[in-house]
Amino acid sequence: MKFFVDTADVKEIKELADTGLLDGVTTNPTLIAKSGRKFKEVIAEICAITPGPVSAEVIATDVQGMIAQGEDLAKIAKNVAIKVPLTWDGLKACKYFTDKGIMVNVTLCFSAAQALLAAKAGATFISPFVGRLDDIGQNGLALIEEICLIYQQYEFDTQVLVASVRNPIHIVESAKMGAHVATIPPSVLKQLASHPLTDKGLAAFLADWEKTGQTL
Ligand code: E4P
Repeated sequence: MKFFVDTADVKEIKELADTGLLDGVTTNPTLIAKSGRKFKEVIAEICAITPGPVSAEVIATDVQGMIAQGEDLAKIAKNVAIKVPLTWDGLKACKYFTDKGIMVNVTLCFSAAQALLAAKAGATFISPFVGRLDDIGQNGLALIEEICLIYQQYEFDTQVLVASVRNPIHIVESAKMGAHVATIPPSVLKQLASHPLTDKGLAAFLADWEKTGQTL
């Protein structure tokens, strides 16, 4: 499973990229607003940090506007993936960019039917939002299972990018289902590495080592 980080905070991205565990980055208008920085400037900096796909989302809602904005964003770097919403216009824009060999991330996916359409439109990534479904009392992970199953039947090239991740369970369960990518908030990515028994065990080993009086 590939790990993308879901943030527009360049400092955090740099820190995570230095671990060698980062395969890409996703941003959205909310994350850009949170960064307080200029959109294209941030995307350019992120693209220089990671060679993996960096999702940059269009703001237009009509196909012509999406194409114009997406073409502009694609000029920033070769690893920009144009992010379009899962609407009819978004699907048309997806097909346009795919035909031009530009990566597309179709976002705001909340049903298997929508995911099927995105695959048919040639999306590089489909982003089903697990956490937001859980938030309204639906089963986000069940959607990932459904999409993975459907995509396997037809050997679609579209990669399932698990989005709106809230906790490590979302990631582990999606990995078991064969989802290709998870885009993870930095705090949850760090959470993946921690376990209380690891901390307890390490403290005990270090205390016992101290007793030996040896140095290394
Ligand atoms: C995906 O690309 C989105 O940016 C993101 O995962 C949305 O997550 P949220 O529901 O935490 O805003």
